[in-house]
Amino acid sequence: MSKVILLSGSPNANGNTVQVFNEMAKVIEAEGLEAEVVSLAGMSIEDPMNFQGGYNDGFDEIIEKIKNAEGLIVGGPVYWGTVRSDMMAALQRIAMASMQDGNFLSRKVGGPIAVARRGGLTSTLQEMLMFFLSTDMIVPGSTYWNMVMGQGPGQALEDEEGMNTVKRFAENVAFTINKING
Ligand SMILES: Cc1cc2nc3c(=O)[nH]c(=O)nc-3n(C[C@H](O)[C@H](O)[C@H](O)COP(=O)(O)O)c2cc1C
Repeated sequence: MSKVILLSGSPNANGNTVQVFNEMAKVIEAEGLEAEVVSLAGMSIEDPMNFQGGYNDGFDEIIEKIKNAEGLIVGGPVYWGTVRSDMMAALQRIAMASMQDGNFLSRKVGGPIAVARRGGLTSTLQEMLMFFLSTDMIVPGSTYWNMVMGQGPGQALEDEEGMNTVKRFAENVAFTINKING
């Protein structure tokens, strides 16, 4: 069965990003795919520019999950007007791993979503999108940009337009994977 990994870059194990991902996972599962929400909460991602590898931060296990999946969605909550540095370190680690291992990201399907109270959503989305467009991945669209607004945990689920947008995106990711894999 095809699988989609939803990688949250929030420091909160059950904050808005994870809660939004749980709803997106239901949409993906309804399309007949497996979905797994993975959180970076509590992790400390090592410098992605260590070309020798030999990391000891637990992130290689997550990279292995991504390698074995057909889809990857990443979620960045906005902190201080931008995507958090651990999400960018994670994306660069994944890209480096793919380059060193047969470009395993090639033609996987996915893209980013951004979550915030109000400011910095567009630039955060754009920063994460750079990863997908340079790793030979396929990024479906939605009916608006993939951004959800909310502050306290669970508030993002009340942003009806934002939730509809990211759910449609999740559906399009599953739709595209199903088309590719027959
Ligand atoms: C230290 C800190 C900085 C934040 N900076 C921003 C910001 O620049 N723009 C914004 O719209 N929201 C900002 N927020 C609000 C978060 O983006 C918002 O609470 C979001 O839902 C958190 O997602 P999470 O629960 O998945 O971590 C900030 C929150 C914290 C705690």
